[in-house]
Amino acid sequence: MFSLFIFVSSAEPVVDFCVADFNYPVGPAGYPCKNSAKVTADDFVYSGLSAAGNMSNVFKLGLSSAIDLTFPALNGLGIGMIRADIGVGGVVPLHSHRVSEIIYVVDGTVTAGFMGSDNKAYYKTVKKGDVMVVPPSLYHFSVNVGNTPATLIASWNSANPGIHTVTTSIAANNLPTDVIQKTTLLDATQIEKLKKMFGGK
Ligand SMILES: *[C@@H]1O[C@H](CO)[C@@H](O)[C@H](O)[C@H]1NC(C)=O
Repeated sequence: MFSLFIFVSSAEPVVDFCVADFNYPVGPAGYPCKNSAKVTADDFVYSGLSAAGNMSNVFKLGLSSAIDLTFPALNGLGIGMIRADIGVGGVVPLHSHRVSEIIYVVDGTVTAGFMGSDNKAYYKTVKKGDVMVVPPSLYHFSVNVGNTPATLIASWNSANPGIHTVTTSIAANNLPTDVIQKTTLLDATQIEKLKKMFGGK
């Protein structure tokens, strides 16, 4: 019992929080801490998810995220959150993160899912009030299949979950078209079309 106490106490954090100080670069453990004497209750409140993000894009997708970069109090806490508003017929395109994600359907009806490492697709039409979980690293998506906009709130076990979106990974960079063609088996014309849409060179 005593040794357990020693173990637990030595593993405990030495600070209550570490609001990010962006004057220093990020490292594997996050950002350095803002002087705690200057931290106030306002640091722990973020209103950025109160309104839908801009849905005027090819995916009809508005995103507002609470991650360390937008909400510095999350630094080091291992949690983050995003609001996704998906217009009628819109999608959250196929993407992945380093961490797990849990999605709550605030409004609307979406077909959501992910692909396992064996390429099996786990997908289902979920509606207002449902929760779906996506394991770490797996490609996942949502399609608004309802007649109204859909709103999702998703949380991660990271304040900086990273994101790789399949289409933009392919077409929003300066990789030569023939390399993309060889490594994806997509047609060159399709790649050029996607590059135009996503700013690839
Ligand atoms: C929404 O995004 C579109 C396309 O980028 C832009 O033209 C428009 O000004 C944005 N609207 C707002 C309110 O920011």
